[in-house]
Amino acid sequence: MKVLVTGGLGFIGSHTVVELQQKGYEVLIVDNLSNSTLEVLEGIKKITGKKPSFEKIDLRRKLQINDLFKKHPDIKGVIHFAASKAVGESVDKPLHYYENNLASLIFLLQEMQERQIKNFIFSSSCTVYGEPDILPVTEQAPIKPALSPYGNTKQIGEEIIRDTVKASSNIKAIALRYFNPIGAHPSGDIGELPRGIPQNLVPFVTQTAAGIRAELSVYGNDYPTPDGTAIRDYIHVMDLAKSHVIALERLFKQQQKNNFEVFNIGTGYGTSVMDIIKTFEKVTGLSLKYKIVGRRPGDVVAVWADTKLASKELGWKAEFGLEDALRDAWNWQQRLLLK
Ligand code: NAD
Ligand code: WQD
Repeated sequence: MKVLVTGGLGFIGSHTVVELQQKGYEVLIVDNLSNSTLEVLEGIKKITGKKPSFEKIDLRRKLQINDLFKKHPDIKGVIHFAASKAVGESVDKPLHYYENNLASLIFLLQEMQERQIKNFIFSSSCTVYGEPDILPVTEQAPIKPALSPYGNTKQIGEEIIRDTVKASSNIKAIALRYFNPIGAHPSGDIGELPRGIPQNLVPFVTQTAAGIRAELSVYGNDYPTPDGTAIRDYIHVMDLAKSHVIALERLFKQQQKNNFEVFNIGTGYGTSVMDIIKTFEKVTGLSLKYKIVGRRPGDVVAVWADTKLASKELGWKAEFGLEDALRDAWNWQQRLLLK
């Protein structure tokens, strides 16, 4: 069964490709290499023994997508990861974000509709909840006005899919709202490749421990949380990867309750920035240099997932713990240093 994985050379996409291949799926990756490299294909091959098919395509180009589907008429499902994801950059370049994240989505759905390809999985984000009123946050929580153009692309993306599914009897979709993905494949053969200075916490932690960054800035310790630092739900990327295969199989087996479903994909546990630092120090035996600085504008205080729906409907729950995720992130960082 052939599955198209857009953005399949990226962080979450590459780990999902590994899971798909290990489950026997034939994977076709498309990526424009804007935030990834071809080396990832070798990493995937090292783990699974098989190099996935790859086409370098920019999903903002409708004709390229059209050619792709003509060349591969046997695609049975699409997992759509490709997007730009830097929240701060999206504030400076909103049009790039709206074009890249939404034009690609529209073109893919048009092509699927035309060719009667039914099964679609979309990368959404906990960012759609903003600062939730009730924790843990459920899928029924209100969608708050987006805090960034990036966040808005995820909200609009979900709406585009909802309307498309309603209008077309063909397409069935699942949006997975990821919380904070971290870690790497335990082998250290694939992982996250942040460009420039990492904006996300864990890559900044591992680069600081590796001596690439002088020290970590902890953005605020005056939040109304037990230790004053902000709380998130950090999920191992391999657990996240597995949820995609399960969601896709739910569509293949026609087990969905309606034609557009949304699931939180997190651990269900909240972890503070200080917890991350302490756990990282514990699993690595290193001492991390950090300083407390002011809050980062736009950050929410606390968000973690209610995972009951994913557990009930998908039969999925996170299996790796925070220690595993931080150990694997550090293992990957050390492999990068050797390259
Ligand atoms: P990533 O940047 O590592 O991967 C995205 C991949 O898409 C990259 O390989 C990039 O080259 C490719 N790409 C981007 N634009 C493209 C285009 N126009 N045509 C073809 N390829 C294109 O990001 P990731 O962390 O793996 O995120 C994957 C998805 O999950 C994204 O949609 C992101 O918004 C979403 N998401 C990520 C996080 C997170 O914290 N990493 C959290 C929630 C949701
Ligand atoms: C985590 C915590 C920071 C860096 C972002 C996107 C969100 C989603 C996931 C895509 C926060 C603190 C961070 C640092 C720090 N992505 N921090 N020092 O902000 O929860 O979510 O990624 O959909 O949309 O906004 O993740 O890793 O940036 O931050 O103290 O150098 O770590 O303040 O509390 P965030 P993050």
